[in-house]
Amino acid sequence: MSTQPVPSTPDPERSTEQNPYGGAGTAGGPKRVRTRHFLNAKRDGIRITGLTSYDQLTAQIFDEAGIDFLLVGDSAGNNVLGYDTTLPVTVDDLIPLTRAVAGAVKRAFVVADMPFGSYENGPEEALHTAVRFMKETGAHAVKLEGGQRSRKQIHRVVQAGIPVMAHIGYTPQSEHGLGGHLIQGRGEGLDQLLADAAAVEEAGAFAVVLEMVPAEAARQVTERLAIPTISVGAGPHTDGQLLVWTDWAGLTTGRIPRFVKQYANLSGILSDAAKAWAADVADGVYPGPEHSYE
Ligand code: KIV
Repeated sequence: MSTQPVPSTPDPERSTEQNPYGGAGTAGGPKRVRTRHFLNAKRDGIRITGLTSYDQLTAQIFDEAGIDFLLVGDSAGNNVLGYDTTLPVTVDDLIPLTRAVAGAVKRAFVVADMPFGSYENGPEEALHTAVRFMKETGAHAVKLEGGQRSRKQIHRVVQAGIPVMAHIGYTPQSEHGLGGHLIQGRGEGLDQLLADAAAVEEAGAFAVVLEMVPAEAARQVTERLAIPTISVGAGPHTDGQLLVWTDWAGLTTGRIPRFVKQYANLSGILSDAAKAWAADVADGVYPGPEHSYE
């Protein structure tokens, strides 16, 4: 939430330090991001920022940097857990990661991703999984994939008082059903995308992730919905942006999607550090007297 409009109504949870919203950072904007701040941001034309996080240390850094929401994504599968895809990830895999992230933040809104196989059976299964995340992790919301096909699940979870972030367009848990890692919403696919967007809003989602859809399609969805749209490879016309942190920070060494802009080269930094340390150990330079006990 990183521009500077004047809020129309005072928010009791807004920091009194510096300016309202104040750009990214803990000194400005809401003291704790809530679902209403997502809606306010859309209304006020303030862009929402999100990154994935899977651990306590990055969560604390991103929170203090003023990132609005942290998604404990099932992308943990290929960033933490050593899988090639998100499909094998389980609720039990994600619960401790989500607890670590939720426990580390002061301001950011934490979204727990519901993994493949934890909600497809129907609304009651979705509610059971969502309740586990809320009770066992301290997350503030859950995310699940699918538009029209998931609307009953979204409705049931929202009815129980749990905020849901929807996820349409390219949905990685359906990679095989979609025929691969393919852009969605092109040509005739636009009608399906618009129908999915309307379905998740109607079901009660407070925001929707649009993954890998053409920028123009994302613009149309954003204009039609009252809830904010969050882009992951859906161009600039959405209400917010979300990236997988390891791609964004250059820790990922494999293929990076075209839509990712890298803001650091962590793999290079860590590799250089590891080589320098190994050389110091080999040369007897480390540990020096200052690193040794008397
Ligand atoms: O798991 C994840 O990181 C995600 C985002 C890519 C949207 O679902």
